[in-house]
Order: sequence, then structure tokens, then C-alpha cells
Amino acid sequence: MNSLEILPELISADQSVPRLGVLASGSGSNLEAIARAIENGQLSAKIALIIYNEPEAAVRQRAERFDIPAILINHRDYKSRQALDREIIKQLKAHKVDLVIMAGWMRIVTQVLIEAFPERILNIHPSLLPSFKGIHAIAQAFDYGVKITGCTVHLLSLEVDSGKILKQAAVPIFPEDTLEVLQKRIQVQEHLIYPQAIAEYLKERSAKGLGAQT
Ligand code: GRF
Repeated sequence: MNSLEILPELISADQSVPRLGVLASGSGSNLEAIARAIENGQLSAKIALIIYNEPEAAVRQRAERFDIPAILINHRDYKSRQALDREIIKQLKAHKVDLVIMAGWMRIVTQVLIEAFPERILNIHPSLLPSFKGIHAIAQAFDYGVKITGCTVHLLSLEVDSGKILKQAAVPIFPEDTLEVLQKRIQVQEHLIYPQAIAEYLKERSAKGLGAQT
């Protein structure tokens, strides 16, 4: 049985694999990990579009290297968070995106975006949620003195960093660590679990008879 027979609901009108839309604000190392997992055949999907909001974000160069369309949607050009989200939805729909992947997207999302893609927006956060929500999560954990932190892939919800947890990896903090060393150790795990979590979530939805588009 081939994948077309197994996953009929995941097929967009003109594609044989789920289409991902990635939202990123920064370096884009998670975007790269996902793109590599697709290239390696570990994740059956296509990155249809990258949306970034910071004109100088390095994610743009990564998008170019992987030949993925990238659109700048600068939040400063929009009067409200809702207006920004409406433009994002317009582009995601125009590119027939099935699943939205937030990879270092540094804007608070509104109900407008969540309702447009119900249970179809994933986020990665650099702590073991529900501990250390919000920004500077790595520094929060470091300063608190916890000995184990990590990273979490979760569904996006209106309350920041609070949606259903899909996958986590634990990361130790050693006495000699600096914040930079710890950050790198966490990112190694992020790059492993994010593509895995996406693949598993697509499979789970398919098994429940839910396509990426429903
Ligand atoms: C990651 O640490 C992620 O957990 C957080 O933002 C960072 C993005 O890094 N949400 P990158 O742009 O993917 O390198």
C-alpha cells in the first residue's frame, strides 16, 4: 500500500504530501532541521512557504538555500495583531498550507489565526512545559537552578505556551554550563524532536481520520 492509499485526507488538491507553512522570526535553525528531515525522507511533507517578520532574519538565507518561497510580513506594517494574522492567513491559504509550524515566531498569535487552522498550528518552546513559559525560557531555567530542562513541541493555544504537549526532550544542566552552552544543548534536541513531532502528529491525525486540512 502506498502513502496515497493510506493518507487520502492529507492530500491537497495538487500535492501528494501535507504542505507546511513555517513562521519564523530569527535564525531558522529549526526550519533547517525540518527541511533536512524532509530531504532525508524522515518526514513526508513539503514546506510550501516560510513567513518571516524581521527583515534581517537569517531564516531568509536558509529559505533561499533550500529553495523554499519566503515572504516578509513585517508586523510593524499592521495596525493590530489581528490584522497581521489576517495577512498571514491570506498567504498560508494562498499557498495551500495544511499545517502551520511556528519555529521561533516571536509574535503573540490571536484567535483569528488559531480559528483559521484549528489544532493545525504547532510550536516549539525551549523548556519542559509547563515550566518556564514565555520569553527567555532558557535563562529562566538556568537562573532558577533547575538541573534538568529541555524543549517541548505543543499545539498552539490562545494562552501562551499552554497548548497540548505533543513531544518533549529532557536536557541536563551541568554546574559548569554557561547560558550559551545550555542553549546549544537544547537546540540539538529541538532539531531532533520537531521533525519527529510533526511526522507523528500527521500520522496521528491520519489514523483518526482527520486530514491535515480538517
Ligand atoms: C528556538 O529555541 C525555539 O525553541 C524558540 O525560538 C528558537 C528559534 O530558534 N521558540 P531558530 O530560529 O529555529 O534557530
